[in-house]
Amino acid sequence: MESRVMGLVLVLCAGASALDNGLMRTPPMGWLAWERYRCDIDCDSDPKNCISERLFMAMADRLAEDGWRELGYVYVNVDDCWSSMDRDADGRLQPDPRRFPAGMAALAQYVHQRGLKLGIYADLGTHTCGGYPGTTLDRVQTDAQTFAQWGVDMLKLDGCYSNSTEQEQGYPLMSKALNETGRPIGYSCSWPAYQGGLPPKVNYTQLGEICNLWRNYDDIEDSWSSVLSIIDWFSDNQDVLQPAAGPGRWNDPDMLVLGDFGLSVDQSRSQMALWAIMAAPLFMSNDLRTLSPEARAILQNKAIIAVNQDPLGTQGRRIVKEKSGVEVFWRPLSQGASALVFFSRRTDMPYRYKTTLGQLNYTAGHYQAYDLFSSQSVPSLSESVPFTVSINPSGVVMWYIYPAKLLGEEQDLGGVYPNFRRKYRLRPQNHPQPPPFLL
Ligand SMILES: *[C@@H]1O[C@H](CO)[C@@H](O)[C@H](O)[C@H]1NC(C)=O
Ligand SMILES: *[C@@H]1O[C@H](CO)[C@@H](O)[C@H](O)[C@H]1NC(C)=O
Ligand SMILES: *[C@@H]1O[C@H](CO)[C@@H](O)[C@H](O)[C@H]1NC(C)=O
Repeated sequence: MESRVMGLVLVLCAGASALDNGLMRTPPMGWLAWERYRCDIDCDSDPKNCISERLFMAMADRLAEDGWRELGYVYVNVDDCWSSMDRDADGRLQPDPRRFPAGMAALAQYVHQRGLKLGIYADLGTHTCGGYPGTTLDRVQTDAQTFAQWGVDMLKLDGCYSNSTEQEQGYPLMSKALNETGRPIGYSCSWPAYQGGLPPKVNYTQLGEICNLWRNYDDIEDSWSSVLSIIDWFSDNQDVLQPAAGPGRWNDPDMLVLGDFGLSVDQSRSQMALWAIMAAPLFMSNDLRTLSPEARAILQNKAIIAVNQDPLGTQGRRIVKEKSGVEVFWRPLSQGASALVFFSRRTDMPYRYKTTLGQLNYTAGHYQAYDLFSSQSVPSLSESVPFTVSINPSGVVMWYIYPAKLLGEEQDLGGVYPNFRRKYRLRPQNHPQPPPFLL
């Protein structure tokens, strides 16, 4: 048991303030080019995948037409390598004219017409990580104005080619400059990732006041070992990171790479479940034109998205780390509910993990659980009754749990989850309404 202070965690979160732009009260969701498309600028031989307006328009089409937008995946985000190597005559950033012939304002309009939002990328330094023009301190205001004029809705500000003094000045300066444009622009800061992600070099109170989200740690890669190293770093440092998150201010463990090449189906489920538990931004970096049905089903799982987007906005924690390789993660949700993820790092066979809700810090009482991948209700539980979950190697079992009171007869909730049969009535004092994804 790593934590006996879950109640305290909630109290800690309630006080901290967030960047006052009204945005991202739940973790932002959408699509981001970097992990899958990098700095592929070879439009002659790779026209479908190169960083160009065609790629972003294609992804906007898919988000709008394939059911993503309705689930909350609304950001279409450009990353590095979009700009021309030169600023224009007035010193403003401009897109590469061959790859973005219509320009960024036209791309923003295209995206907005489909009910989506456009994100862009800049770097606080002499150059971007890919070697394109950077946003040095004297350019911060100009670039904020340019992005606002184009109709951009989000900015990721990277930190290559800047030192710690420049970052200390530049990240707050950009926050102020974005605010002064008068356009609400979500602000993603890579600052902590360049300072090791931990105090005393990183001040999470300050980050929460100036940024909506921030990259704490290394870039994700298309492999299970990369995903695992991120899960480990965030869990090992959860005492620092977990209280930093809340509505309008989020830790960002980086993109969802499921749907690419590196993860099995079970590993894909693990990434989705753990990102939901961590209240992480959900930015997919994959090819929505060729996504497998398995990856689509995981990314479009409404119940898991509802856990990620829970209005309480409390980041979850790892509460069990066993020698067997089993870890349990817990996230408190609104209306007295919670989510559990049982995660196995084992590499042998499905592991039968036996525990009780009492051992997982649940207070005495009856509970109803719902398995979010199988869409089945779990037999009723009380805190002292042992239960067993079978967890696949590098896989998860994910539950949504709420306190229940015996009603006696089964009630069919129907709708989205026809297999979910409710035996228990929700406790009125905790549960004015059943969770929305069960209706
Ligand atoms: C700018 O900041 C002020 C004060 O914090 C806030 O009321 C306002 O909504 C912000 N405007 C934008 C566009 O972020
Ligand atoms: C950071 O870079 C600036 C130049 O932009 C320089 O004046 C300053 O001394 C550097 N600070 C550190 C801590 O290296
Ligand atoms: C961290 O930032 C907050 C808010 O800006 C500030 O009040 C506090 O003094 C800072 N803490 C440290 C240790 O610098």
